Amino acid sequence: MMNAISSQQAVEFARNLYGIRATAQKLNGEYDHNFLLTGDDGAQYVLKLMHPDRERSEIDLQVQMLRHLAARDVGGNVPRVEKTIDDDDIAEVQTRDGKTRLVWMLHYLPHPLLADTQPHDPRLLMSIGQMLGKLDRALVDFSHPAAHREHQWDIKRAAWIEDIIHHIEDDHRRALVSDILTAFKKYAAPLLPDLRHSIIHGDANDYNLLVDADNHRAAGIIDFGDAVYTATICNLAIVCAYAMLGKRNPLHAAAAVIAGYHEVFPLTDSEIDVLYTLICTRLAVSVTVSAQRKSIEPDNAYYVISERPAWHTLEHLAPLAPDYARYVFRVACGKAIDYETTRAARQQYLGGNLSLTYQQPLKIVYGRMQYLYDEAGRAYLDFFNNVPQVGHSHPAVVRAAQDQLAMLNTNTRYLHDNVTRYAERLSALMPDSLEVCYFLNSASEANELALRLARTYTGAQDVIVLENAYHGHTGTLIDISPYKFMGPGGAGKKDWVHIAPIPDDYRGVYRRDDPARGAKYAQHVADIIAQMKADGRKLAAFIAETLPSVGGQIVPPLDYLQHVYRHVRAVGGVCIADEVQVGLGRLGTFFWGFEMMGVVPDIVVLGKPIGNGFPLAAVVTTRAIADAFDNGMEFFSTFGGNPVACAAGLAVLDVLEREQLPHNAQRVGRYLRAGLERLQAQYPLIGDVRGVGLFLGVELVNDRATLDPATQQARYIVNRLREEGVLAGTDGPHNNVLKLRPPLIINARDVDLFLHTLTAVLNEDDAQPASS
Ligand SMILES: Cc1ncc(COP(=O)(O)O)c(C=O)c1O
Repeated sequence: MMNAISSQQAVEFARNLYGIRATAQKLNGEYDHNFLLTGDDGAQYVLKLMHPDRERSEIDLQVQMLRHLAARDVGGNVPRVEKTIDDDDIAEVQTRDGKTRLVWMLHYLPHPLLADTQPHDPRLLMSIGQMLGKLDRALVDFSHPAAHREHQWDIKRAAWIEDIIHHIEDDHRRALVSDILTAFKKYAAPLLPDLRHSIIHGDANDYNLLVDADNHRAAGIIDFGDAVYTATICNLAIVCAYAMLGKRNPLHAAAAVIAGYHEVFPLTDSEIDVLYTLICTRLAVSVTVSAQRKSIEPDNAYYVISERPAWHTLEHLAPLAPDYARYVFRVACGKAIDYETTRAARQQYLGGNLSLTYQQPLKIVYGRMQYLYDEAGRAYLDFFNNVPQVGHSHPAVVRAAQDQLAMLNTNTRYLHDNVTRYAERLSALMPDSLEVCYFLNSASEANELALRLARTYTGAQDVIVLENAYHGHTGTLIDISPYKFMGPGGAGKKDWVHIAPIPDDYRGVYRRDDPARGAKYAQHVADIIAQMKADGRKLAAFIAETLPSVGGQIVPPLDYLQHVYRHVRAVGGVCIADEVQVGLGRLGTFFWGFEMMGVVPDIVVLGKPIGNGFPLAAVVTTRAIADAFDNGMEFFSTFGGNPVACAAGLAVLDVLEREQLPHNAQRVGRYLRAGLERLQAQYPLIGDVRGVGLFLGVELVNDRATLDPATQQARYIVNRLREEGVLAGTDGPHNNVLKLRPPLIINARDVDLFLHTLTAVLNEDDAQPASS
């Protein structure tokens, strides 16, 4: 421990050495004794009484460095050295503990610390980057022998922490640091000797950076005690590491600093490439040293000052691919295709009716579990996309597909165990009667095949569909999708297509107060069938999403499909369940929507989530229908059921089972729904909250009596949520239903973040019901 040196002694040194009458206040210091002096004239200084072990050359390094910088533009203030009355930069004193110490004094810079300033907006972070860039630029021609030293905080030498890593008690955290060190040794350390070298500040942490908070600008930098000759990029790595602490989007924060730095002192490609590894390494050194010091002095708060946020940041970064971080940093330096170029290229080379979501479309470059990440390093909590059922790029699915792709990818004209195993697994998840599988590449192909099966089996043509339904983008499927053929550009209804009302018991003709509403909605189907008969038409199939998602996240009355299927089968029609959006565990309690509806379809169509993003779709049907389809014409899809797609499909089923995701969907879905219902009680705009598991809809209305759809507000809300880092969508005939279909892996914390963000947006002026 340090022996105390009193403020009184500091006052005496100030007077005797510098001729300054002042009061003294002790400052925090790790090793040396620092005092804030306030002179009679109000001028303030920092008097530094160094630890007896300090070499004069170390102090001289700082003095010379500060003098060098004082004569150059560094985009902020650096402390000025005050000379003694004998015109010396450094003096030597005897303190009352009998020790000889070096003394020097700096002019105090009265700006707030970055650590005490909030928020750290991109402008401020960029300005800090600019200041550091100017600082490093100014130091290119500075040299001092004392800087050529072995310093424990020099990132270049970070491998030394291997000897103390055992002080990290938590196994998971120790492994995290160990992985970072491995990456450092493999990817960064070999490149460092060839990078630009110079003397750097070496400790631009948030307690050494001064800010002009009012103007969102960096104001200066203090404490040059860790200056060292090393790879120049290490200085930026250090400031980035600290700029990331406590941020929801740490890469975005780092990117702002990097952009500022690069603007004034351009980075080389190799520097950008190693930067992320160096940042992580710096944080790893920091937490490891903290763990060591904590084990020696468990109660010393100074040692652990930045430990918690540093761990938090490291744990936040751990799931991210380093390649993603490098990409973000390249974007920040203007070395990747920028957003506007991508937009322009899309406009030039892609079809105009290929729509983009959100007023400010997203350029997503990375996905991991429930998060999507844009090119600027911002994370978006994904509550919308239902394809990544087990999480974006779930490692188990990625590995399964990668391994199989490296082994073999062919087609179903060869025997392969993946396709048969997958067919076996899928049919085991279905009722006994659904036992034959066909595999395709998209749900459109699967619905197309389902129609062919139904028509071949029944020898009939006609199809009954629900209002506002969508089943795919092929010619025939557009014909059975009122959402398309009745919308803009649609060619209208074909005579073989019959539209039944959507069984929407919130907005439709029969509502929740009518216990017979299921039978009544189904009666419309019976009426259509009767009219067809009268017109001499024959029914091939009834097709519907078991819970209409495109129709606005509708949960039909539970007996509706039972009545419908009875009517359809009475005239020899086939019942097709489009489970593309709702199936595969999303509903929680029920693995398939038709189970919830108490029916067994004749044909089930699967797509979207079953490959978790890998193109894969399936039709599962009865032996009788499959036999009728086996009429001599070969069925073949070049890519349908290929070994890689089936490997992905099998991995998805494994993950669903291993991670008990349907159960999670049920539990977290219930929590989300309860939260939404609380909001419904508070906000008149929310007319209805419906759905099960993680298939939820929030219908927005201007008036709960007239149900006037709040379409504008729905659009406003999803766009604002996107700005706040949360993704949701809208659907339904009036586009006034917030559609929530997150990956099944989300947890209660994600729900809290979603609800918190939604609540904030619901309070905004543009999210209020329109007065009638
Ligand atoms: C219910 C439903 N069925 C079928 C499809 C068609 O799927 P795909 O685009 O994969 O062909 C979609 C697509 O949105 C859908 O929502």
